[in-house]
Amino acid sequence: MGKSKSSNFHIFMFPWFAFGHMTPFLHLANKLAEKGFRITYAMPRKAVHQLQPLNLHPDLISLHPVTVPHVTGLPPGAETASDIPIFLTHFLSIAMDLTRDDVEALIPSIKPKLIIYDNAHWIPEIAKPLGIKTICYNVVCAASIAIILVPARNIPKDRPVTEEDLAEPPPGYPSSTVLLRGPEVQSLLFVTNPFGEGITFHERITMSMQKCDALSIRTCHEIEGKLCDYIGSQYGKQVLLTGPGLPEENKNPLEERWENWLAQFEPGSVIYCCFGSQFILEKRQFQELLLGFELTGLPFFVALKPPLGAATIEEAFPKGFVERTKERGLVLDEWVQQPQILAHPSVGCIVSHCGFGSMWESFLSHCQIVLIPQLGDQILNTRLLADELKIAVEVKRAENGWIAKQNLSEAIKSVMDQDSEFGKMLKENHNKWRDTICPELMTDYMDKFVQSIHELVEC
Ligand SMILES: *[C@@H]1O[C@H](CO)[C@@H](O)[C@H](O)[C@H]1NC(C)=O
Repeated sequence: MGKSKSSNFHIFMFPWFAFGHMTPFLHLANKLAEKGFRITYAMPRKAVHQLQPLNLHPDLISLHPVTVPHVTGLPPGAETASDIPIFLTHFLSIAMDLTRDDVEALIPSIKPKLIIYDNAHWIPEIAKPLGIKTICYNVVCAASIAIILVPARNIPKDRPVTEEDLAEPPPGYPSSTVLLRGPEVQSLLFVTNPFGEGITFHERITMSMQKCDALSIRTCHEIEGKLCDYIGSQYGKQVLLTGPGLPEENKNPLEERWENWLAQFEPGSVIYCCFGSQFILEKRQFQELLLGFELTGLPFFVALKPPLGAATIEEAFPKGFVERTKERGLVLDEWVQQPQILAHPSVGCIVSHCGFGSMWESFLSHCQIVLIPQLGDQILNTRLLADELKIAVEVKRAENGWIAKQNLSEAIKSVMDQDSEFGKMLKENHNKWRDTICPELMTDYMDKFVQSIHELVEC
């Protein structure tokens, strides 16, 4: 598809105000701009400044600031999910819905042929009368969309969704491994919470997916094909896949201080750990994890937020921890360049919460993968990698959810010990899957996605 065909093709993008959504939307925008599309991408004012450096085609992609109105319940100045604790996202959702008039006023002046959105379920109401097509682009794995899928569940409309409703996967759910176990189902209950004025999370997602012209999911058929087909058949819609949509290369080198620190260790020996920005541990659990890293005897590079009740990570370190591990361990409370770290020859293992971004970065790396999921979709991502694809190990929790240092250390050693058969098996599978999901395949996905966009708009 040459640039000439697309250059008058304007796309409007409007994702949920969270970096976990806005960043993959921008990656997608970059790939579409490569194909010559012009894009106007609306997002909160501050986010424009933060995301501008990731805009690889400023000539074609314009980041348009929207003013997020203040609503009662939100701290002043809050614009994105990163600015607030997770239990306030309902209010952010109200604020996002209040931008509707501005968005509605903006769209006719842009004259887009297509709008790509996710949570703003009212976008199709604006688009349809103007003859604009819409795609609902889901940046989470297909498994987490499928498992909360409502149309299949036949839940009466006059009562809220309950834990019992969610206890079993919906009828026809095609996977036997990508599942929640026992009490983990509770982690899905958040879908019954209000998420905007008079609407639950679950209703919002369902409406967003029902009203669009086509669905899109940030995944690959090779990995989640059956789940994607299931979602498509349940909603009666075409499902366009983009692949993981990660940028191909890391333009910026790893910071020199980390490069030098990592370079002192043997190839493939360092454990890297990061749990994403929303994962705040209890202090006791924070300390136990650090002791778990110590127990492995391996070098470790850990990026963690301070635990509950602590202002800094240093004040929460276990007693004597720094003295005992300072030669081989680094614990930081700052944002780090994860892809660059994973690509460093000394790094051999990633321990993560398996958020979708981290899941893909682990998948495409050469590191062994150890997972400690926390929330619903992270658990599903984990089951996908650990049980279905068999390329990762999940750390065992005690019944009350506690992660013991022995269990963390054993999980790491089971993949890092040179003569672990289990570790070798995971590595072989991982290599096989990484070869399958190769850069050529990604290019293929984008070519097909672009072709589908043209077909959608022309029909
Ligand atoms: C380690 O995991 C196992 C299996 O889940 C669990 O039974 C055990 O209690 C855990 N160990 C500790 C010390 O918590």
